[in-house]
Amino acid sequence: MTARISSTGLWTPPNSISNDELVGSYNAYVEQFNTENAISIENGETEPLNPSSSAFIEKASGIKARYVLSKDPILDPKIMEPRIKERSNEEISVLAEMAVWAGRDALEKAGRAPEEVDAVIVACSNLQRAYPAIAIEVQKYLGTSGFAFDMNVACSSATFGIETARGLIAGGQAKSVLVCSPEICSGHLNFQDRDSHFIFGDVATAVLLESEDIAPPNSWEIISAKLVTEFSNNIRNNFGFLNRTAPDGVGKPDKLFVQNGRSVFKEVVPMVADMITKELAANDIPPESLKRMWLHQANINMNNFIAQKVLGKDADPTMAPVVLDEYANTSSAGSIIAFDKHNDDFKPGDIGLICSFGAGYSAGLILVRKS
Ligand SMILES: CC(C)(COP(=O)(O)OP(=O)(O)OC[C@H]1O[C@@H](n2cnc3c(N)ncnc32)[C@H](O)[C@@H]1OP(=O)(O)O)[C@@H](O)C(=O)NCCC(=O)NCCS
Repeated sequence: MTARISSTGLWTPPNSISNDELVGSYNAYVEQFNTENAISIENGETEPLNPSSSAFIEKASGIKARYVLSKDPILDPKIMEPRIKERSNEEISVLAEMAVWAGRDALEKAGRAPEEVDAVIVACSNLQRAYPAIAIEVQKYLGTSGFAFDMNVACSSATFGIETARGLIAGGQAKSVLVCSPEICSGHLNFQDRDSHFIFGDVATAVLLESEDIAPPNSWEIISAKLVTEFSNNIRNNFGFLNRTAPDGVGKPDKLFVQNGRSVFKEVVPMVADMITKELAANDIPPESLKRMWLHQANINMNNFIAQKVLGKDADPTMAPVVLDEYANTSSAGSIIAFDKHNDDFKPGDIGLICSFGAGYSAGLILVRKS
């Protein structure tokens, strides 16, 4: 049975942090660090820290702001981490709650009751706990039927999740699958690292896939999908359940997000452009007939390069819509936010693509046609 995308959902946290607010907090931390370590810096024993700048952030990435679950502690130079209260086992966990909000939005848009959903996949970069699966908690609180499981392919989790859902529908396991991507990226971001403190934001998205016999008439046909991975250490986070077996490493910076951004930029742009070009050719779709590319939202310059390589010319702003200016990099959710917010002008027959890329490396492509 062929699967279609019936709807998408979005949940945005209430607090936004501007570049100026973030840089103000970082620079206060830098001043404090350099003052406290003045002697050691003068003796050449400690490297002084350099200030961050809003102008650099916007020019290098396109990011102007980001939404977060917890704002004030991130901006407090003495804390510089989010603070999210621990919940009892009897309460819904925060990651599941975000997924439920986004999931409800997707179900409402498709006019579906939760019990009509046969499976939930929580596909995201950072899972709150080892077990039980967050997806099974989402199943309980949403009231969906069938089964649920978690999966993680970092920034490509949502597109890999969509393709997995398509397989479940094609294989007869389910007729309706909800793919939720709750991303609390502030939880793994080192706000004391000048190279990356501005990169991420928090959000949750959801995508409802249904078999074509029940999908609404205005749903999205999935023309084809392509998944690619290639191992790289250029984006890495060593946090994990074995950390306690090596106590010396606990709390070290490598237990948070670390990247070599310049290398990622150089290596991922050609990888993704090549994947898109080949997949379009395999489906006899000339690049000029594409109406939109809902690309992963990490860096505006990266997206412009990818669009330019695929089209063979500079893309106009409607071709690759930008949401990272407002949301920053929201990991797997980025391309889904772009899709959710920028598809109203699609007419039956119009073709677009959802494309994610990031840690792994991983890249996922979903080619869609509006019904
Ligand atoms: C992270 C990223 C925005 C950095 O931009 P960049 O142009 O590569 O910047 P670089 O790290 O090379 O740094 C350039 C200069 O700016 C400086 N700089 C770095 N962070 C700065 C900051 N916050 N404020 C001011 N200057 C800064 C550097 O020190 C460097 O200075 P130098 O030239 O004097 O050495 C960019 O590399 C990127 O987005 N890469 C892709 C990342 C990606 O897709 N990751 C996926 C994650 S899921």
